[in-house]
Amino acid sequence: MTSAPLPPPGRVSTTEQLMELLDGLYGADADRTSAGASEFWGRLLQQPGHLLGTDLPDANLVAWQAAHLLPPSAAPGRPPTALDVGCGLGRNSAWLARQGFSVTGIDVAAPAIAEAARRSPDPTYLLRDFIREEVPGAPFDLVYDSGCFHHLAPHRRISYRAALHATLAPHGVFGIVTFAAGRMGTTADDAMLLRQGALEGGVGYDLDELVDVFEDLDLVAAGRQPTADEVGAPVFTQDFLHAALFRRHG
Ligand SMILES: C[S@@+](CC[C@H](N)C(=O)[O-])C[C@H]1O[C@@H](n2cnc3c(N)ncnc32)[C@H](O)[C@@H]1O
Repeated sequence: MTSAPLPPPGRVSTTEQLMELLDGLYGADADRTSAGASEFWGRLLQQPGHLLGTDLPDANLVAWQAAHLLPPSAAPGRPPTALDVGCGLGRNSAWLARQGFSVTGIDVAAPAIAEAARRSPDPTYLLRDFIREEVPGAPFDLVYDSGCFHHLAPHRRISYRAALHATLAPHGVFGIVTFAAGRMGTTADDAMLLRQGALEGGVGYDLDELVDVFEDLDLVAAGRQPTADEVGAPVFTQDFLHAALFRRHG
């Protein structure tokens, strides 16, 4: 375990200082959710043959759109807006743009953002840290996260919820894809994850745990990613992932 540098002035007196102190428990190569992870993600996502190098959208996203669960525009005369959190190479951002959304894709990995913009110029891609920085264009009708949340250390779920609150419009829709507990990711408890200062490659969540974390939102749908046959289109689908869709009250 690495020792945490105390944030100035030396004694914790704000929530953000506590967050930074807890961040410090994680070694540079254990934290995958801040600007320091830019090179790691840039290299990983662009490795030849990497699963996430695809241009295919998530199967759940396509199924939700077919079932009319994704939001229409909140204002007449303008397209619905979407924020893709941790957009990577932009496969879901580009698909949402093709469905008529005005899309902002954000990521902490500069090489990923550059490649996403090269692949599809339609979404606006920004180098932004969702849990530490403001996102221009908020609030959005849809906030979507495929594979970012499960890399957060336990204490950063609090930051994530605050960021979601700041970026999701009233009545807006939040979709999330995470590792499915037991099939991918650690199931160690939070005390252990903080004590060991490592996430073992990400956290596996039960759908019930996601419902608990986002208990201020209404659950709309949840389950494994459907197959390409079920969706009737070429899609990205993995049996170690599952997805949940929530709606914010007014
Ligand atoms: C597993 S990849 C998923 C990429 C993409 N969503 C996909 O499914 O193809 C996780 C992504 O989240 C990004 N990320 C991690 N922490 C972030 C943060 N705090 N703010 C924005 N992006 C973040 C990483 O840089 C990486 O591109």
